[in-house]
Amino acid sequence: MEIKNDLFLRAARGEKTERTPVWLMRQAGRILKEYREVREKAGNFITLAKTPELAAEVTIQPVDILGVDAAIIFSDILVIPEAMGLPYEMVEAKGPVFPKVIETKDDILKLVLADPEDQLSYVLEAIDIVKKELAGRVPLIGFAGAPFTIFCYMIEGKGSKTFSKAKKMMFQHPELAHLLLDKITENTILYLKAQIKHGADLVQIFDSWAGILSPQQYRDFSLPYLKKIVDAIDEAPKTIFAKGAFFAREEIGKLNCDVVGLDWNMDISESRKLIPNKTLQGNMDPCVLYSDFSKIVSETKTMLKEFGSTKHIANLGHGVYPDTNPDSVRCFIDTVKSYSH
Ligand code: CP3
Repeated sequence: MEIKNDLFLRAARGEKTERTPVWLMRQAGRILKEYREVREKAGNFITLAKTPELAAEVTIQPVDILGVDAAIIFSDILVIPEAMGLPYEMVEAKGPVFPKVIETKDDILKLVLADPEDQLSYVLEAIDIVKKELAGRVPLIGFAGAPFTIFCYMIEGKGSKTFSKAKKMMFQHPELAHLLLDKITENTILYLKAQIKHGADLVQIFDSWAGILSPQQYRDFSLPYLKKIVDAIDEAPKTIFAKGAFFAREEIGKLNCDVVGLDWNMDISESRKLIPNKTLQGNMDPCVLYSDFSKIVSETKTMLKEFGSTKHIANLGHGVYPDTNPDSVRCFIDTVKSYSH
């Protein structure tokens, strides 16, 4: 189906657009009371994510309510470990927890190569419904976690400041770490291809914990797997967002992807020099949205000016925080939409 507002996809491909497109990481979520109502109806996050009609509904909410230029499928990066055999729970006010974690080679060997049409059919069905209901209004983003970030959760079993247990495996048993990273990568490739087949117009890979690695560790344990994924997928454009990996920008920029996401620690003009040929996405500090409207407007304009009129997709430098006022998010979006370079 033809997409009416294709600013996001054209910018992703590096084409000139009438204005800069805008969306927010984690836009489908707790900032909206309409989301909280649907989540209440579902009972909890995981049931919501596994009920395609409801997942589709909250995917479309930010398009209707906030006016963003792209939708992102409502799901989580942790559906991959679950499909491989490690189910997760979402604990209120705490985050994800895996009752069972990876400790031994045997644990890794037991993990399966999931058929997305089987174990992850609920995500694919949600994509089918979203595509039908969006009817080409805006493009749909599919996503997955980067193998390194998923590895962290599978070893640690929950969030961590240091992920030192995960890193311990990298140092004590690098061959096991690579075995697990390989398995995650194979699953991720199949999963992203299935999302595209069902209608995802672009896929984004979230390497949320990239910033805990040194440049060399990143080269050894994350980049090769990102490379494998983007090289395997040529059915749709690809975005890599590696939070905190300022040291790896140049190398990420050389991978076979179309867009590189930046966080707010990454200087914009320096990033342009390091990644000269690709579209950049980001990168305002989500905390700017705690300021008054005039400050949000001025900070947004400063960001837009520095990125320039092409090869930029406006976004925050990480997911929007749950206690952000939706009016402040709207102020950010409206400022981008009315800005002329
Ligand atoms: O971006 C979107 O709007 C689409 C949906 C989406 C969710 N998670 C829904 C969600 C996306 C793209 C994600 C990705 C994700 N999940 C990442 C990578 C992006 C990032 O923020 O770095 C990570 C690390 C996770 C793992 C995860 N899921 C954590 C750590 C948590 C708890 C903390 C938090 O952010 O809420 C989740 C839960 C989660 N995933 C919620 C939502 C809407 C909140 C659950 C709820 O409704 O209570």
